[in-house]
Amino acid sequence: MKIVIVNGQNHVGSTCRIARDLARKVGGEVTEFFLPRDFDEPCVGCTGCFMKDRHKCPHFDKLEPITQAIDAADLIILASPVYVFHATAQMMALLDHYGYRWIIHRPEPQMFHKQAVCISTAAGGGMRSTNRDMSDSLFFWGIAKIYKLGYAIRAVNYDSITEKRRAKIERDTASLAARINRAYGHVKPGLRTKLWFYMVRFFHKQNRIGADWDYWEKMGWHAKKRPWQGG
Ligand SMILES: Cc1cc2nc3c(=O)[nH]c(=O)nc-3n(C[C@H](O)[C@H](O)[C@H](O)COP(=O)(O)O)c2cc1C
Repeated sequence: MKIVIVNGQNHVGSTCRIARDLARKVGGEVTEFFLPRDFDEPCVGCTGCFMKDRHKCPHFDKLEPITQAIDAADLIILASPVYVFHATAQMMALLDHYGYRWIIHRPEPQMFHKQAVCISTAAGGGMRSTNRDMSDSLFFWGIAKIYKLGYAIRAVNYDSITEKRRAKIERDTASLAARINRAYGHVKPGLRTKLWFYMVRFFHKQNRIGADWDYWEKMGWHAKKRPWQGG
């Protein structure tokens, strides 16, 4: 299995340790990125990606290694510590660059066959909103199966987490790794994703214009093809 880990911080802290532990238990070839080390640009709001093509993004070349790794991965792990109740600014800056591939625009068909995990850790709280920050993007990219792990670790680093809490994290990652492996190769998106797909398709019937319409037409989604069918 190909796994990509995107860390929303530059250091190997608790969040990264949990992400790596999960990836190790799943097993496979891991590619890892750290933000902002591997991508440090905020979206400039030019809308070139939305209106024309992703190649129009002024950060296209810088972003490409992460994009290629995400596109090639069977499992995407987004891992962010909670910063003021949300994912880190650098994680959000990365995700902003992929707005054009939301299902309401031009989703990549291979996303509909992938699994993803959002991981967040906090001192006390904010894991739900942080995981939501990341899972919103994953869902709207069309990712078929999304899991979330959030921990209030009540410690300044991974090694000082209590034995009991660490044992729970170990159990959770082991059982999630088994789940991911069981689903591997035959994941399909749920009803909510399909509803979004058909809503956009319906909208396109009324508004036959723009780069998004052209893309859907080229993909055959206005006709009988569906992104979750086939390999
Ligand atoms: C800028 C900043 C903001 C933070 N905001 C929160 C917060 O809103 N809630 C919380 O419980 N912990 C917060 N924390 C603590 C971290 O989320 C927590 O220590 C986390 O486990 C760090 O993960 P890491 O070891 O992977 O860096 C914050 C830490 C920093 C540096």
